[in-house]
Amino acid sequence: MFFLKLSLLTLLAVASDLLVHAENVITCDGSVQHLSCDTGLINVMSAIYGRTDKRICTTGRPFSEIQNTACVLKIPIISARCNGLRQCEFKTDTLGSPDPCNGTDKYYNTTYNCIKGHVSVTCEDGYSTLDCGNDVIQIINANYGRTDSTTCSHGLPDTILADTNCYASGTLSIVATKCNGKSSCTVQASNTTFKDPCFGTSKYLTVSHHCLPHPVQTSVTCEGDNAVLTCGAGVLNIHNANYGRTDSTACSTGRPSSQTSKTDCYATNTLTEVTNRCEGKSSCVVPATNSVFSDPCYGTYKYLSIKYSCVVHNHL
Ligand SMILES: *[C@@H]1O[C@H](CO)[C@@H](O)[C@H](O)[C@H]1NC(C)=O
Ligand SMILES: *[C@@H]1O[C@H](CO)[C@@H](O)[C@H](O)[C@H]1NC(C)=O
Ligand SMILES: *[C@@H]1O[C@H](CO)[C@@H](O)[C@H](O)[C@H]1NC(C)=O
Repeated sequence: MFFLKLSLLTLLAVASDLLVHAENVITCDGSVQHLSCDTGLINVMSAIYGRTDKRICTTGRPFSEIQNTACVLKIPIISARCNGLRQCEFKTDTLGSPDPCNGTDKYYNTTYNCIKGHVSVTCEDGYSTLDCGNDVIQIINANYGRTDSTTCSHGLPDTILADTNCYASGTLSIVATKCNGKSSCTVQASNTTFKDPCFGTSKYLTVSHHCLPHPVQTSVTCEGDNAVLTCGAGVLNIHNANYGRTDSTACSTGRPSSQTSKTDCYATNTLTEVTNRCEGKSSCVVPATNSVFSDPCYGTYKYLSIKYSCVVHNHL
């Protein structure tokens, strides 16, 4: 019962955290839609063009045009353009949406929340470096092009700033491939990295990302064996290690309980020894023996437990 209550409270806390940031914007057909986040970055949850309500966007419209409330077309271009930005604005009739219900007056209905993340802007030919320290990068969105006339405009003639509807369609997948799962990465904002989406216009690269905790792996090696740590890509980052025994089941097969029942056995030099042999390397071998760590609990059959992750950097 107590547990049930606790998880219910946790759920409510999570849900209300989302609700605080949830926004719904209704924009009548042809008007400008504006999405923005005071803190965090836009994350579109649903974007619909059509009509599901008789009471919205009715001014000056004949009854016949607002009757149909079963008209729904999903508009994925809104999340493609706005996700990962602090604010996003577009004239709805420039989206080129097909007409889902001829004869019915429609509106744009967008629901979004604001998520944690960083957004960076790099002017054409510059380099964008993302760094999550020992965590890993998750790209939220990216665009190489131009969507306003002020960003990266200093000293440039108006003629190469005028096209503000410029999107390089492959940007997100190129940046995600280069950066996702890495601890840091560098991408050049250039038409060699991305196909030039608007020749003659000065462009910039906008990238938003957040940092996720590294997937941590655990290696357990019974006394007398060698711990072999390997990273397919990247280098070892050692989080924690102990030579000794902290539970009675690991490495217990065929052992009398007298050798496995002591579960508070720690060799205090373990992290130092393992770090010296492994940190920053692509692989390492550590013998799980008293000769490496000395014996923290004579008479107990021990094991070496190591928590580590593989850190990948992707620079040029
Ligand atoms: C807007 O969309 C949301 C989510 O689909 C829906 O719950 C809401 O009723 C819609 N509002 C209007 C006015 O159509
Ligand atoms: C939409 O409806 C109007 C009148 O009902 C008709 O004249 C027009 O051709 C229709 N357009 C399309 C694209 O079906
Ligand atoms: C790529 O960018 C460079 C420098 O901005 C420019 O000189 C060149 O014409 C561009 N090439 C293409 C194919 O757009």
